[in-house]
Parts: sequence; C-alpha cells; structure tokens
Amino acid sequence: MRSNPTKGRAGLNIVRPLEGKPSVTSDIRANVAQYYDLNPEVPADVGFYTALVPSPEASILELGCGTGRVLLPIAQRCGYVQGVDLSEPMIAVCRDKLRRAHIPGKKAAVAVGDICDFNLGRTFDLIIAPYRVLQNLETDSQLHGLFRCLHTHLSSGGTCVLNVFRPKWMPRSCAGIGSRTKRPSAGRSRSRAVELPVTIDVLTSPPTT
Ligand SMILES: C[S@@+](CC[C@H](N)C(=O)[O-])C[C@H]1O[C@@H](n2cnc3c(N)ncnc32)[C@H](O)[C@@H]1O
Repeated sequence: MRSNPTKGRAGLNIVRPLEGKPSVTSDIRANVAQYYDLNPEVPADVGFYTALVPSPEASILELGCGTGRVLLPIAQRCGYVQGVDLSEPMIAVCRDKLRRAHIPGKKAAVAVGDICDFNLGRTFDLIIAPYRVLQNLETDSQLHGLFRCLHTHLSSGGTCVLNVFRPKWMPRSCAGIGSRTKRPSAGRSRSRAVELPVTIDVLTSPPTT
C-alpha cells in the first residue's frame, strides 16, 4: 500500500491511504480483527506479562497491542498503560473492550501508529511486545526504527521484553541449515523439522546515576 504517514496528536505516525487513491487497504487484519480474540492458539502469557509490572503506579507501553488481549489485564495492575498498533480495526476492538470494561483514559489509552517510527514524548517503566509482534517487521530499517523508539521511550532502569517464537523450519525452505534423513526402503529423502535456537532475553536498561 502506498501510504501517507502523518503525525497524529500522540506523536505517532498514522498510516493512511494517499488521498485521491482507491482506498485499498493492505491491513491483513482488517476483516479478522473482530475474531482475533477467538484464536485458540494464542499463548497463555498474560500472567507472565502482568507479573512484570514493577509497581501499581508503573507506566507501561505495549507495542503492537492488537485487541488488548494483554493490555486490559495490565491496565488493572499499573498506573497507566499506552498501547500502539498499526491496525485501525484491531485498535477499534481494543477501544471497545476498554470502554465496556469501564477503564478510564487516564488509566489506559491506545493509538494507531507504527512501532518503528513514533514519539510519545515520554518514557515508560516497562515496554512489552507480546506474541511475535517483532516478527512482523521485515526490514533492517524497520528494526532500526523500533530499537531507536525503544531507546527513546524506555525509562532509566526500565525493562523491555520482546517476544519472538522459535521457528521450526523445514530443511527445503532453508537450504544449508537443515538436515535430511534417508528412508532406506523407499530410497527417498524425508524432511525433518529443524529447531533453530532462539534466545529470549529480558533486557533491563542500567540506571543512570
Ligand atoms: C500477532 S498480533 C499480537 C497482538 C497482541 N500483542 C497480542 O499479544 O495479542 C501482532 C500485532 O502487531 C501489530 N503490528 C505489526 N506490525 C506493526 C507495526 N509496524 N507497528 C505497530 N503494530 C504492528 C499488528 O497489527 C497486530 O495487531
């Protein structure tokens, strides 16, 4: 999609189709956002993230907050949580859930924006990106942008947790990395899933003195 990023009120880059162009959207979540919470495959990670909230007054930033699956439980345990997501339909579902849960704007707010290019003009005690948000980024420039934004928004002494999944690639799709086993009777090769080591780190920025 050709887009025309404009700075929103929250300092986020809001991605909109170019004016005068057909309003075709490339948001793959546009038609499925309302069903997202029915996905039976989401990880059981809410307890992990709520346990990271350092204090009831803490400020939290959730990158790629989607429909608020994690954001809403977090909002019950912290001073303030800000969510950012590129998908307007996902944010719309999240806003609706916040409204129905009677969670006020001073406790939780969400905005449409690109996590690779935003500036909220403040820092947060904890930044999280649950459920593979990082793996939605495809280019070095997006990753650099994300880490620039993390640097800008993480408080001194704050914690940042980025979730990634551990891929199981089939050898044919990653030549040179995988292995094949011979099936003696048929004499044909059989693919075997290969687990690649991925480390998930909890990074804490050192406090400045
Ligand atoms: C698999 S969903 C995870 C949603 C939520 N974190 C959860 O745990 O349920 C990935 C989310 O990342 C968002 N996303 C992907 N790329 C993004 C970007 N560049 N900026 C902001 N959000 C992005 C998608 O719109 C989607 O809502």
